[in-house]
Amino acid sequence: MQRILIDTDPGVDDAYAILLAMRSPELCVEAITTVCGNVPVEQATQNLFTILGSLDLDEFPIIAQGEAAPLVKPLVTAAHVHGDDGLGNTSHLRDTDGNQRYFHANTTLSSLSGVDLILEAASQYPDELIVVALGPLTNLAKAIRKDAAKMRRLQKIVVMGGVFEDYGNVTTTAEFNIFIDPHAAQEVFQFGVPVHIFPLDATHQVVLTGERLRAEIEGRDDKVSRFLWDATQACMEFYRQHVGFWGFHIHDALPIAALTSPDYFESVDAYIQVETEGDLTNGMTVADLRPERQRHNPNAQVCVKVAAAFLDSFFKRLR
Ligand code: RIB
Ligand code: CA
Repeated sequence: MQRILIDTDPGVDDAYAILLAMRSPELCVEAITTVCGNVPVEQATQNLFTILGSLDLDEFPIIAQGEAAPLVKPLVTAAHVHGDDGLGNTSHLRDTDGNQRYFHANTTLSSLSGVDLILEAASQYPDELIVVALGPLTNLAKAIRKDAAKMRRLQKIVVMGGVFEDYGNVTTTAEFNIFIDPHAAQEVFQFGVPVHIFPLDATHQVVLTGERLRAEIEGRDDKVSRFLWDATQACMEFYRQHVGFWGFHIHDALPIAALTSPDYFESVDAYIQVETEGDLTNGMTVADLRPERQRHNPNAQVCVKVAAAFLDSFFKRLR
């Protein structure tokens, strides 16, 4: 059993990741913290309740709302990709009888801040807790600043973010989660807790077409399938218009899947730094991935390859 805390900015692909984690018996999702990113943090928290509401759960992870703004830069959201509410506008969907289609989970928000819940969980499960960061790393950086000793007891930090030998998805050189808060990412990568990062170089290898998604989940009568199909439409339309195919990348599902099915993923050691000052390269993750060129002690493992069979296994688990 792996105890994890998910830090997230839901976000459609965050929804896939969270639902996958909640349906993976190998994982115990102890807590979920929200952070500003795809949408403002208040909306991210509302979305988290909607995502969990699509599951028939008797008990829930502890949920806390995290930081509303990056450490230094102003927040820039990705609502244009994920829909105005960040979840394909599912929060406004009504059935033919006029009733709301999706509801919040029957649970409440912790009185702790996101940062304090991360610190609480790190000290409750010393050397065991794995943090899976699916949004900007603002909460983690603030937790390190507040109590580095507690954060040193994390087993590892798994991150969806960055890009090395591929193109970025915000600028040519930067991926969204790192671009939004490069200062936080640099502090987390230099902190010393082992990092396992899943950059766009890996997540772009998994191309989920609308046709495949339709074949897998449209028409299924379970709530999760209906929710994911509804939530993904806006994203896939964005991809059709701006990325060149009808479908999308389930970026955030990969770090979760790597915890339960590591054999589908290949990683290399590297020393990662983040550009925090550049104009053209702000938010760029900088590392030489060539094994023979490692000069510094590595501070991270970088996922560089995803097996083609991953998607089949993903859908088997998600059902
Ligand atoms: O670049 C993709 C990442 O940014 C994903 O985590 C997505 O949800 C957004 O947060
Ligand atoms: Ca995300």
